[in-house]
Amino acid sequence: MEGQDLHTVVEQALAQVAAAPDRAALEHIRVQLLGKSGAVTAQLKSLGKLSAAERPAAGQRINEAKRTLTEAIERRRTQLQQTELDSELAAGRIDVTLPGRGQEPGGLHPVTKVRARIEALFRQVGFHVVEGPEVEDEFHNFEALNIPASHPARAMHDTFYFPDGRLLRTHTSPVQIRAMRATPPPLRIIAPGRVYRCDSDMTHTPMFHQVEGLVIDENISLANLKAMLHGFMEQFFERSLRMRLRASYFPFTEPSAEVDIECVFCNGAGCRVCKHSGWIEVLGCGMVHSHVLQAVGIDAERWTGYAFGVGIERLAMLRYGVNDLRLFFENDLRFLRQFRTG
Ligand code: PHE
Repeated sequence: MEGQDLHTVVEQALAQVAAAPDRAALEHIRVQLLGKSGAVTAQLKSLGKLSAAERPAAGQRINEAKRTLTEAIERRRTQLQQTELDSELAAGRIDVTLPGRGQEPGGLHPVTKVRARIEALFRQVGFHVVEGPEVEDEFHNFEALNIPASHPARAMHDTFYFPDGRLLRTHTSPVQIRAMRATPPPLRIIAPGRVYRCDSDMTHTPMFHQVEGLVIDENISLANLKAMLHGFMEQFFERSLRMRLRASYFPFTEPSAEVDIECVFCNGAGCRVCKHSGWIEVLGCGMVHSHVLQAVGIDAERWTGYAFGVGIERLAMLRYGVNDLRLFFENDLRFLRQFRTG
């Protein structure tokens, strides 16, 4: 009797296993068959009712049935797993013939490139590159540069102040003060970096970059300044071009000048970029004011020097023919990609 039953149980169970639609259903069937109160387990329990002579053979059959079922469940499980994976992959629609996403090479930002170029050119003629903090105090940004609190130039600087009275440097000139206080003359440095002014329109951004230059030595004259700047401009633009100094005013230089170069777009003939003047203003400069030397304890009778400050974006615009300053800060890849090489 028991043999018959077992046979039927196994036949039905195998059919159930084969028909299990997914792994959850299969697990349910396994528990029903082989679990604590499962059908096969019940068979094993019923062995107790048999006589001692019948028991070994019956036990063996039940164990065999159990093994058969366990194996069948295992096979079905593997099968279902594969089917599930297949349908997951099909749903994911991975087209292995598609080209990969690729890795585009990055590139340096045009401002970084121009900065590096300026640094390299000045290093060639013996300048050291130094840096100063972007968060400054009034002493370095103004006072030591001959701009006392009452000076109208303070108002012109559109300064961002912190509540504690410190400020974001409005120019790189405070690095002149730091360099002179750190190192006794002779001195020959450039100081590139970010500067900040509370100003924003077509030609002004609240943050931009400058490179400060400072030379302190014996017998330094305006002629040295002019020759050095002219050499730099010709190297930078890789062509010979005319340059002129126009008298100007900065509190920390005397005399002071603004430097114009021949328009690099029309070669001085006059165009929209140079407003038909043939000249383009590129930087401010002058001989270091004796008050500045005094403020840092340098003997103004023995040492003289020159200083200049140039806008990096300005030079970048001229070198690459960019007509809107804001393009440098919008991070538009269509713009930036054009500077990837070279
Ligand atoms: N600091 C000046 C500015 O930001 C530029 C400058 C630097 C002028 C050094 C003279 C000497 O406008």
